[in-house]
Amino acid sequence: MKNILVTGGAGFIGSHTAVELIAAGYNAVIVDNLSNSKESALTGIKEISGATPSFYNLDYSNDEKLKEIILKESVDGVIHFAAFKAVGESTETPLKYYANNVAGFVGLLSTLEKLGIPIVFSSSCTVYGEPDSLPVNEQAPIKPAESPYGTTKQMDETILRDATKASKKLKSIALRYFNPVGAHPSGLIGELPLGRPSNLFPVVTQAIAGVGKELTVFGTDYDTPDGSCVRDYIHVVDLAKAHIKALEYLNGQQQGFYDVFNIGSGKGNTVLEVIKAFEETTGKKVPHILGARRDGDIVATYANCSKANELLGWKTEKTLTDSCRDAWNWQTKITPAL
Ligand code: UD1
Repeated sequence: MKNILVTGGAGFIGSHTAVELIAAGYNAVIVDNLSNSKESALTGIKEISGATPSFYNLDYSNDEKLKEIILKESVDGVIHFAAFKAVGESTETPLKYYANNVAGFVGLLSTLEKLGIPIVFSSSCTVYGEPDSLPVNEQAPIKPAESPYGTTKQMDETILRDATKASKKLKSIALRYFNPVGAHPSGLIGELPLGRPSNLFPVVTQAIAGVGKELTVFGTDYDTPDGSCVRDYIHVVDLAKAHIKALEYLNGQQQGFYDVFNIGSGKGNTVLEVIKAFEETTGKKVPHILGARRDGDIVATYANCSKANELLGWKTEKTLTDSCRDAWNWQTKITPAL
């Protein structure tokens, strides 16, 4: 494999993956309709990598155009990120989510099936819901999704598995991400929440910066070490590298191969621990208030990543401190007043 199509390559995880692909000697071909990202990410990728990936401003679900690009660029592998990801919005506009994340995905897979091109799919730990035991491994049961967004990830995994197993031409891997955070250490690419962020890291960095909304800790009466929820925060650069390992692993597999891997830090941290880590790393206070639980939040989850460690030869290299430092550095770059 040499030419890798990255759908959603201008987005948070996609842009970091494009950088890691180039660093590993691949050509990244980016397709993104910029619906939740900005072209500045492409400039960042160029500055970091010194390469100029081909970029197509296109909705990935445009099957005909996408196929043309795949053929023109001699694409021989796909990493698929393009999807809607706002949990709350998915509850309000489920059809928008099913159309883009599921119907669009079926179209993409049909093209890849015809052409015999392998795919790495971005899934989520959301498929596990509230796990029965921790750390959660890939054998844990899939629980009913909390939102249409979660349902789309579950449906896509099922579609990918069934389509791959029935095919003589497809092979695929689904990576179940835990909570992706941080930014590239250069400060040239990072997470760009359009509108009000709802994920913890951008809310924290905006609170430190004094922009955006105040940070409320959602719940302090959970059955956890300090009463706040536990999550597995994985540095986006570590996560990006897992995709290259997955591609390499797929390369050695037969057609019809499908598997899933957890990609997390393997550590659980509470919300209050994250706040403390930010304060220690940045030397700044994180203004926050303790508030009520957020509807739909699970109490605690973190990953057992032994399968990815052993089979993909992947492991995390960065710490929570790195994530806090890089997230804050990124915030200072995108807030003009800082
Ligand atoms: C959320 C999504 C999940 C998605 C993941 C991707 C929900 C319910 N779930 O997960 O489907 O896969 O993002 O990144 O939105 N927190 C606060 N105050 C805040 C924001 C968050 O205390 O202002 C807490 C939350 O209660 C949670 C933790 O921080 O305990 C992480 O929250 P968040 O970043 O939104 O991620 P998840 O809820 O884990």
